[in-house]
Amino acid sequence: MKKNTIMAIGLAMSFVAAQAFAEQTAAAVQGDAAAGKTKSETCGGCHGADGNPAAAVFPKLAGQHPSYLTKQLRVFRSQKRVDQMVMNTMAESLTDADIADISAWFAKNKVIPEKAEKNDLGQKIFRTGIPSKAVPACAACHGPKGEGNPTSVYPALGGQYSSYVGKSLHDYKSGERGNEIMQTITNRLSDEEINAVSDYVSGLQ
Ligand code: HEC
Ligand code: HEC
Repeated sequence: MKKNTIMAIGLAMSFVAAQAFAEQTAAAVQGDAAAGKTKSETCGGCHGADGNPAAAVFPKLAGQHPSYLTKQLRVFRSQKRVDQMVMNTMAESLTDADIADISAWFAKNKVIPEKAEKNDLGQKIFRTGIPSKAVPACAACHGPKGEGNPTSVYPALGGQYSSYVGKSLHDYKSGERGNEIMQTITNRLSDEEINAVSDYVSGLQ
């Protein structure tokens, strides 16, 4: 079997696994946004009270799907996703109810997108992928406007800071952040391609 075929099958299998995982988490997410607003006061200093941070070193959380926020807070809590500086500690003391409430609050708010320059390479990668390198279109999962997919737990990307999108892609590529789908894809992307698609994503709305 050709390597590409094996990769494609691997990707399709991850799809099924993600779907199954999504069903479990989606059912668990029934947060109370008003309670989440109060509970997220400690988060606001970095992520902004409504999830739009003042500084690009912190990811935007506003408008992100509750299923994805919940998943990330759980993996920070279990230390499967490592951010020893901050997020492992922040998530340590959160109960499942806290996580659901806080996720509901940030999800309810609107993300303020960046003003990105036109980026042809980034747009091309996002919309059509790079067929010669078997890179799939990002839009296939993350949506044409980067709106993501709450049921499949594909995060919304539209309007996110370019620097954070780039950091995430490098973290998948280096294996620092584990996810089979995104690791397979980023292994095939050059730094130039990562920068281009990150810039493009930041202006999507
Ligand atoms: C001192 C600053 C700081 C505080 C306080 C903080 N965070 Fe974070 N948060 C970060 C940083 C930095 C990252 C990016 C980590 C990385 O690069 O992996 C992050 C990442 C996240 C992510 C992942 C976003 C994504 O798109 O994957 C979530 C969700 C999150 N934080 C939620 C929270 C919540 C909820 C709280 C409050 C309980 C909180 N944070 C408090 C700095 C902070
Ligand atoms: C087959 C579906 C699929 C495709 C295609 C895909 N992604 Fe993803 N992406 C995911 C999933 C699932 C996650 C969540 C992984 C996790 O939990 O860490 C993700 C996470 C991300 C994140 C992290 C977001 C955050 O807030 O931390 C970025 C950035 C990202 N993808 C960018 C891209 C780009 C750019 C492309 C195209 C080159 C792409 N993705 C193609 C499924 C996909």
